[in-house]
Amino acid sequence: MDKKMFVIEENFPIKEAMKMIRKNAKGFVVAIDKKGIVKGVLTDGDIRKALITDKTVESKIKDAMQKDFISETTDTPETEILSKLNTQIKFIPILNPDKTLNKILHIDNYYEYQMRTEFVPIFKPYLAGNEKKYLMECIDTGWISSQGSFVKRFESCFANYIGTKYAASASNCTTALHLALVALDIGPGDEVLCPNLTFIAPANMISLTGAKVVLVDSEKETWAMSPELIKKAITPKTKAILLVHPFGHCAKMDEIAKICKKHNLYLIEDVAEAIGGKYKGQMLGTFGDIACYSFFGNKVITSGEGGMIVTNNEKLWIKCEELRDHGMAKEKKYYYKYKGYNYRMTNMQAAIGLAQLEEIETILKIRSRQNAFYRECLGNTAHYYSRPIQSWCSYIPWLTTITLKKKDTRDKLIEYLKSQGVDARQMVLPISGSYPYRAIAKGKFPVSCEISYNSLHLPSSTGLSEEQIIYIVEKVRKGIQHIG
Ligand SMILES: Cc1ncc(COP(=O)(O)O)c(C=O)c1O
Repeated sequence: MDKKMFVIEENFPIKEAMKMIRKNAKGFVVAIDKKGIVKGVLTDGDIRKALITDKTVESKIKDAMQKDFISETTDTPETEILSKLNTQIKFIPILNPDKTLNKILHIDNYYEYQMRTEFVPIFKPYLAGNEKKYLMECIDTGWISSQGSFVKRFESCFANYIGTKYAASASNCTTALHLALVALDIGPGDEVLCPNLTFIAPANMISLTGAKVVLVDSEKETWAMSPELIKKAITPKTKAILLVHPFGHCAKMDEIAKICKKHNLYLIEDVAEAIGGKYKGQMLGTFGDIACYSFFGNKVITSGEGGMIVTNNEKLWIKCEELRDHGMAKEKKYYYKYKGYNYRMTNMQAAIGLAQLEEIETILKIRSRQNAFYRECLGNTAHYYSRPIQSWCSYIPWLTTITLKKKDTRDKLIEYLKSQGVDARQMVLPISGSYPYRAIAKGKFPVSCEISYNSLHLPSSTGLSEEQIIYIVEKVRKGIQHIG
C-alpha cells in the first residue's frame, strides 16, 4: 500500500482526513506529528462519532483520532501480523524503532497471503481452457453485453451437450428457475413440491411466482426428495415438482417421472449441482418439462455468474427467452407479450461458459479420480460417513461431504479445520429451518434436518492435488480427536 495515501499530520482539520479517506478508499488514515512520529489512527467510524458529538470538520484530527491503537514493529514477522487481521482489525501500522511509519498491513494483504500459503479454499474455478482468449475477444470486439456471438454459441453447445433441442441462458440459476416456473404458468393458487434439503433459491423462486412452497423430506439413500413422501404431499392444487439432484447425486427419476405422469404434474429439474450426471445412463435435465443449471464460481463449470434452461418444448423455450428479455416478442422488437424481466446472460459470461463447456469432460474426469481418492482416504469411520452413492447413478462429484455421527460437533470441526488452513463449510440449512419458511414448513423433516445439521463440505476445487487431499483428511482426523 502506498504510505502517502494514508499519512496525514495530526494538526490538520478532519475535513482533510475525509478527503484522504475518500481517495484511499480504505476507511482510515494514520496521523503523525511534525517529525513524522505516528500518534494515532483515524477511521471513518471515528469521524462519524466525532461529528455527532462536539466536533466539526474544522476540528483537528488529533482531537478525534484513536491514540491507543494496535500497531506492530518491524521485528515482528509479517506472517504473524497478517494472522492478526480480521473483519474487526482491518489494518495494522508497522512502526520503525523511532516510531515513524514503516508500512501498513491491511486485510487485503491477508487475503493475498492466504492464497500464497497453505490455506486450501473450499472451491477455486478451474480456468485452464479458452476462457481468457474468448473473454479478450469480447473486449477487443466491444461485445460485452448480452448481444454477441458467445451467447448463442454457448446455448447451442449446451443443448447439444445435454441432448435437448433448446437451451436459453440466464443471468444465474435462480433467475433461470423463475423463468421456468413463470413459463409454465405457475402462480397464485398453485402448489409446487420442493426439496427441504437444498439451497434456498428454488423455494424463493416458487414463492416469487405467488405459488405455495410444499416441502418434501429427503430419503437416506440419495438425499433427494423421497418418492413416497412426494406421493403423500400431492393435493388437487399441486401443479409441479421442482426437483433437485442434491450435491451431484440423482434423484430416483423412474419413480418421480411416473408420479408426475399419473398426477399430470410438471417436472422441473434443478441440475445446478449435478451437471453432466446421468440416471441409469440418461442425462439429468432430460426427464422433465424443463431443467435449470448454475454456473456460479463454485460449480463444476462456471461462467462467473450464470444459468441455463434446457427443454425439448419449443413453446416453453421461446417463452423463457421472451420473459428473460422484458417479455418482448422474439419476432418483433418493442412488442411486449408479457410482463417480463431482464435476466439475460452477458456475452462475457457466455464466453467463459463456452470455454468451460469445451473442457467439461476433462474436468469431470479429474473430479471423478479426485473424488475416488478422497473417499478412499476418508473412509467411513465410527465418527463420520461419506455421502452415499447409488450404483445406478453416474454421480457428479461436486462438494466432498462428510456427515458426523455425533450431534453438535460439526461446527467445532469446521472451526478447527479453518484454524488449520482448511476452508470447510457447513451444509446449507434445510429450507424448513430458514427464517422465511419456518412458519409454512408444516410437519417434520427428520432425514433432511439430520443430514443438513451434521454435514460439512471439504475443499473441492478441480485443481486440488493428492497432497492437499491427504493434508485435509489428516486435519479431519486430528480435528475429530481435538473436539472429542
Ligand atoms: C440446487 C441449487 N439451485 C439453485 C442455485 C442457485 O444458483 P445461482 O447461484 O446460479 O443462482 C443453487 C446454488 O448453489 C443450487 O445449489
